[in-house]
Amino acid sequence: MKRTAASHSMASSSSLLPLLLLAATLVVAKPSSSPAAAPSAGPLNIIDILVNATRHRTFARLLRETQVDLQVDKELGDDDTGNTFTVLAPSDAAFLGLRSGVLNALSQQDQEELVLYHLLPHYYSLPMFVTASNPVRTQASGNHGAYTLNVTTDNDMRVNVSTGVVRTAIAGSLFDDGEKLAVYTLEKVLLPYDLFGPRSPASSKPDSKVPSAQSAADVAPAAGENIAAAAGLRAGRRNLMAAFGALAIAIHCFASIN
Ligand SMILES: *[C@@H]1O[C@H](CO)[C@@H](O)[C@H](O)[C@H]1NC(C)=O
Ligand SMILES: *[C@@H]1O[C@H](CO)[C@@H](O)[C@H](O)[C@H]1NC(C)=O
Ligand SMILES: *[C@@H]1O[C@H](CO)[C@@H](O)[C@H](O)[C@H]1NC(C)=O
Repeated sequence: MKRTAASHSMASSSSLLPLLLLAATLVVAKPSSSPAAAPSAGPLNIIDILVNATRHRTFARLLRETQVDLQVDKELGDDDTGNTFTVLAPSDAAFLGLRSGVLNALSQQDQEELVLYHLLPHYYSLPMFVTASNPVRTQASGNHGAYTLNVTTDNDMRVNVSTGVVRTAIAGSLFDDGEKLAVYTLEKVLLPYDLFGPRSPASSKPDSKVPSAQSAADVAPAAGENIAAAAGLRAGRRNLMAAFGALAIAIHCFASIN
């Protein structure tokens, strides 16, 4: 009995095959448009800025995956809130300098905290960092005074940032519109004390050797491609799921027509 049912459904689904393939093709074809956003002259777009700057693809990906980019762009686009931001964007080489697996070991929520930790809810031009009072709150701080960092400056407008685990210098400016958004590049990932301090589970060697500038330069583009490939893989998997959904619907429709 069971056997008959199975062979029956197999027969009907094989006669459906062309229709199903068509449905699958339609579903798969649609969302696979190129993810690379063209730099726009319109509203501020944090991803555009990072992609434009090149060599910040890992951070751009994390912003996108955690959807923090959408929050930032939305708040920057909303003149009523008057929100401004400073983004401390680690380079791809900075991410390569992390112990391997550090990022993946973080829960999704901690990854989001890590990303938010690199955003200051205040616009600082380089000279304005002198006015920052320590500890400086980040977007990850919430109301609890956690996830702060310390900033030190000197007379030559050099700025150091310290998390209690990592200390690094602002290495350059990627973007500055003079009022709402400044984006700087860092050569280290800011590991928050709250996640990587001595007593936290994710605790890691903070200053594990950064690859030499030469080898980092060699490896960075390849890493970017791996990330792109991984993202493509995930997108592909989503498309496949969508295709399965379409198959299920098509089978269902066919069944109810009969
Ligand atoms: C991207 O770079 C181009 C060329 O340098 C520049 O015209 C454009 O304003 C940049 N876009 C952003 C968002 O920085
Ligand atoms: C930044 O850190 C470097 C190295 O730790 C140190 O030599 C320099 O004096 C610091 N500068 C500031 C402005 O804190
Ligand atoms: C920041 O500086 C204060 C003293 O000014 C110190 O107590 C605190 O531990 C520092 N925090 C970090 C994250 O470096």
